[in-house]
Amino acid sequence: MMLLILLLLPTFDVLAATVPDVCEDYTPCSCQEYEPYGLIVRCGDPFDHKSSITSLDVHDVFNRTKARHVFWLDLFSLSPGVDSGDVIQLPADVLSEKSVDRLGISCSTLAGPLVLEIHPDAFRSSAHQMGHFEIAGCDFSRLDFQFLADTTSLISLSLGPGLNFRGFPRLPFLARVTSLRIYNYMDFRYWNQIAGRFPFLESLFLDGTQLGDRLINKLVSSIASSQTGRHSLTQLSLWENRLSRVPEHLSSLKKLSYVNLFGNAIRFLAKGSFAFNSEIKVTFLILTRNALERIEPDAFQGDFSEAIIYLDYNHLTRFDSAVYQKVLEQMRSLSSVAGIYVRNNPFECGDCHLAWLIRDKPHLLKRVFGGRCSNGTQFEDLKPEGYHDCR
Ligand SMILES: *[C@@H]1O[C@H](CO)[C@@H](O)[C@H](O)[C@H]1NC(C)=O
Ligand SMILES: *[C@@H]1O[C@H](CO)[C@@H](O)[C@H](O)[C@H]1NC(C)=O
Repeated sequence: MMLLILLLLPTFDVLAATVPDVCEDYTPCSCQEYEPYGLIVRCGDPFDHKSSITSLDVHDVFNRTKARHVFWLDLFSLSPGVDSGDVIQLPADVLSEKSVDRLGISCSTLAGPLVLEIHPDAFRSSAHQMGHFEIAGCDFSRLDFQFLADTTSLISLSLGPGLNFRGFPRLPFLARVTSLRIYNYMDFRYWNQIAGRFPFLESLFLDGTQLGDRLINKLVSSIASSQTGRHSLTQLSLWENRLSRVPEHLSSLKKLSYVNLFGNAIRFLAKGSFAFNSEIKVTFLILTRNALERIEPDAFQGDFSEAIIYLDYNHLTRFDSAVYQKVLEQMRSLSSVAGIYVRNNPFECGDCHLAWLIRDKPHLLKRVFGGRCSNGTQFEDLKPEGYHDCR
């Protein structure tokens, strides 16, 4: 009998590990089962700052509940406990022995960001599980990233709007991070640490940081001139950074396949502005809501056979063959979702410059979405005969 039990035990362990966790009572937090990943637990309400919670509440919940692992834990609108003044303090082992894959913390209140302190051992039980950490709305002046120093799986880091960020520490975990997102952080000044501290970055999302042409050029150049970054970065997003030009050095990034420059003030694309490595399939090139007036021939170079290019909400008046024909021809494969989106541009259709598309290559129109002349007629409704006399 004893032998049987001993033999069975390992089997039980395996079973226990594969049985999905079910939600128990996480009040005042809420719980949701998210197949096949596990539990999502949310504490505090991001839309109702009155229902804020303290680190003591969080500790009580995790000391009480049985599930040993939570896939995603969001601590929204944390508030200071009664004894900690205006400072939010997350103590050692705040989740008891429980571990998380993804952890989000926000400490914003209507009165503004609150100071957050995290004990170096606060999330010690998650050191080997945590893959993603995000933080928003906090005053970083007393935040020490030491609590992430022993993580072995952390690959993704996201910093939202906040105050008094003091830069990235020299900690080994940063070298494993492949995805870095910094958004709406108006006084972010540590762009010059990115290339060095995050040598294997694959995705860099630096959105709404208002850095401007000069600093963004230096940032891209620093990544492009690092041996690793040059061969690792695949996604680069620079939304709302007051860019008036396409950043230089993009073509030195050998793996780049996604570029998002939404919401800048770029007016002109020179030849080779986007010269992607021809061995990489471009996925997205987003230039929505810029001030584009003119695009030079061969501005787009690379493999666009599966690419989606957004040029909508600009001031383009021409759709020239020297710019678009090669790209559209690459997009012809039937299975592909590729296309060029050009909604909300005042294209001038009265002259002959569209004859190549409307009269000579109408099959390419299938990959042009939202083209409309300044007089309101859609590209699809233009008559080939209208271009009869064009050369
Ligand atoms: C955790 O819960 C147990 C009861 O289940 C209690 O005895 C213990 O004091 C709690 N620990 C903390 C730190 O609250
Ligand atoms: C707009 O311009 C095009 C090209 O000249 C013409 O074919 C079309 O009929 C015009 N549409 C309207 C509504 O005037």
